[in-house]
This record gives sequence, structure tokens and C-alpha cells, in this order.
Amino acid sequence: MKAKRRVVTSGPRPPAARTPPPKRRPTVRRIKSAFATIPSGTATVRPVARSAVPPAPPQAAEPAAEIDLSVDLGRGLVLRNPILVASGTFGYGIEYGDVVDVQRLGAICCKGTTLRARIGNPTPRVTETPAGMLNSIGLQNPGVDAVVAKYAATWAAWDVPVIVNVAGESVGDYVEVVRRLEGVPGVAGIELNISCPNVGKGGIQFAIDADAAGSVTAAVRRATDLPLLVKLSPNVADVRPIARAIADAGADALTAINTLSGIAIAPTRTKPLLGNIYGGVSGPAIKPIALRVVYEVSQVVDIPVVAIGGVTNLADVLDFLAVGAVAVQVGTAIFADPTLPVRLVDELGGECRTRGWDSYRPFIGTALPKRAGAPSAKGVEYRP
Ligand SMILES: Cc1cc2nc3c(=O)[nH]c(=O)nc-3n(C[C@H](O)[C@H](O)[C@H](O)COP(=O)(O)O)c2cc1C
Repeated sequence: MKAKRRVVTSGPRPPAARTPPPKRRPTVRRIKSAFATIPSGTATVRPVARSAVPPAPPQAAEPAAEIDLSVDLGRGLVLRNPILVASGTFGYGIEYGDVVDVQRLGAICCKGTTLRARIGNPTPRVTETPAGMLNSIGLQNPGVDAVVAKYAATWAAWDVPVIVNVAGESVGDYVEVVRRLEGVPGVAGIELNISCPNVGKGGIQFAIDADAAGSVTAAVRRATDLPLLVKLSPNVADVRPIARAIADAGADALTAINTLSGIAIAPTRTKPLLGNIYGGVSGPAIKPIALRVVYEVSQVVDIPVVAIGGVTNLADVLDFLAVGAVAVQVGTAIFADPTLPVRLVDELGGECRTRGWDSYRPFIGTALPKRAGAPSAKGVEYRP
């Protein structure tokens, strides 16, 4: 018997029938669909000091009284604002309760959760890099049952939706974790971390192969009615066919990007620095790559795209919106300033107010190609 799922919107929409992949430029349709069910005036924000952002138009009209920052990520997952915190950088949300008003966030993506407890990778697990960091935490977590037992009741009492980030080593793993989250009050959605080795298939990551990415998404889709976000890896030659396979398999939204594969060398120069040798690069250093991925993916899928990668200020948020993201996650920057995500909510509202807009939606997609079938939708990009 399933428990009733906590609904985070005033008007959940029924699961939509899957539409075939769009043949022409889908961006406008996707952006509209992300806002189709949102009542206006659902968020009010105060203007505060802003980061460096493009200048507001000089003819800005009278400031709007209320700014609508809400965004629909599909299947009834409507966020009050488009600023989320990224998996692995904000714990389970509870840890930050004394520092930040977590209820003001758009959503919290919790730490990666697996079927069984994992102790994580050998140390050292993190090191700084120019304009970022390298981590190989190795999905240390207590396992899905312990996560539910320890945190779900608290999440259920919160206004902010919590999206559980799910990882696995086989399709069966992912499906079982999601089954155990299905119907749990406090779990608002699933974000699939598919940058994990598929042990039964020679350890090839799900995220780097369109068939594997589509298969795991389809299997999870069959197992849950929860809103399903799937997180893209940048460690591929062309992300577009993978994004399409995931969308066709029934994901409600894409998140992009996970970390880039990298290594660091120990001071002795006799071995790699991290205990796991390999780690994931994150932070401002990866922002241009994340922008490129979001730009490409936004042109080939018809579901919302949530951007992640190197966000440290409002200008970064606006850049990601310009390439088609409808929302943004903040990750590594939280380690330096846990108050940043909430401040960005205020700054985004303030920027709309300065421009006389009652919504942030005009920021979305402004840097995408104006014509259908642009080279960036087809796979013709920069070649060195
Ligand atoms: C310490 C650390 C732990 C992370 N753990 C996870 C994880 O468990 N699952 C996941 O999907 N992504 C994880 N990530 C990736 C982030 O969610 C995010 O995709 C990436 O760091 C890029 O964003 P950023 O540059 O803003 O940090 C982790 C990142 C860091 C730095």
C-alpha cells in the first residue's frame, strides 16, 4: 500500500503522454510548457544588493509589485523559485538549518543515495583546483532505508521540496531505490545520477551511452510516478543523443551538468593525489562547459532543463537562463558561502523588479539560435 505522495503545488497536472522527439526547434514550446500550470503572483521577493549583471534597459518601467519566480519541472513539481542547491553540496538540507532559511530555496537536491550504505572512497577525497575543486567522495551515504528513516519526516514538514538524488550500479539498483522512495511523504522528486558505472556491463557509465541512459530512465519511469529529473554527464563527445534518449524514455526534466573527470598529482609527484585517483572537477572552471551543454541540450529536447556548473553570482544564473535553462542549481560555491543560493533568489527578484518585469521568464532562452535547425542543434560545433 503506497503512502500518499506529498504534492508541492497547488495544482498538480496529470502525467502527460510522452510526445515524440521534436523535429524542429522545440525551445519556445518547452519553455512555455515549463510555466503552463503556474498561477501568477506565487512569490514575492525583496530587492537586495546585486552581483555584476548585464545592465537593465534604461527605459525600465515602473517596478512590478510582485515577482513570479515559480517554475514547473513537470508532474506537479512546481518550485517557488528557480534556485536549487546541488546534490552533494548541501547534505540533506538539515545541516544548514542554523545558517540559512532553507525554506526559501526553490528545492534541495540531497546527497546521492544508494540501495545499501556506502563508506565512500579512500582519502584524500578533495583538493582545490584553479577556480574550482576536485572531489571523489564515492557516494558515501547510509543507504536509502536509513535516509528515509532519518530525514523524510523532517522534509515532509518543510515547504521546500526535497529531490532525492539516486545512484546505482545496475538498472535494478536504481529501480529498487526509487521503489523505496515512492510514496514516502517528504520526497518531492527524484534526480537520477547516471554518472555511475554499470557493473553488469563492464563498468561503462550509464551517462555516456544513449541506450544505457535511456534504459535506466525508462525502468525508473515505470517504477515511479514521482517527478523524475535525470542528470547529464559532460564527459561525452556529444550529449545531444543522450539527452534525447532520456527525454524519450519519460524523464520530466534534465539537470546538467555533473562534474568533469579529472585527476591531481600528489606533492611528491610519485602518485595521483586522490585516494581514488580520479575525481570530479566542479566550480567556476566548468561553467563554460556547462553553458555549452545546456545550450545544446535546450535545442533538442522538449522538457525543462535545470543548469548546474560553477554558479557563483547572479550573472551566472542569468547566463544559464539565456541558454535555455528554466532553473539553476548552486553547488561548489556553497562551501565558500552557504547563504549564496538564498541571496540569489533575492537578487533574481530584484533584477526583475529593476527591469519592471513581474516574472523572470523573459530571461530564458534569449541567447538561443533564432532559427530552427541551427548547427548547435545538429552536432556541428567548434573544432580545434
Ligand atoms: C563534494 C561534491 C559532492 C557531490 N556529490 C554528488 C552526488 O552525490 N550526486 C550527484 O549527482 N552530483 C554530485 N556532485 C555534483 C554536483 O551536484 C554538481 O553537479 C557539480 O558539482 C557541478 O556544479 P558546481 O560547479 O556548482 O559545483 C557533487 C559535487 C561535489 C563538489
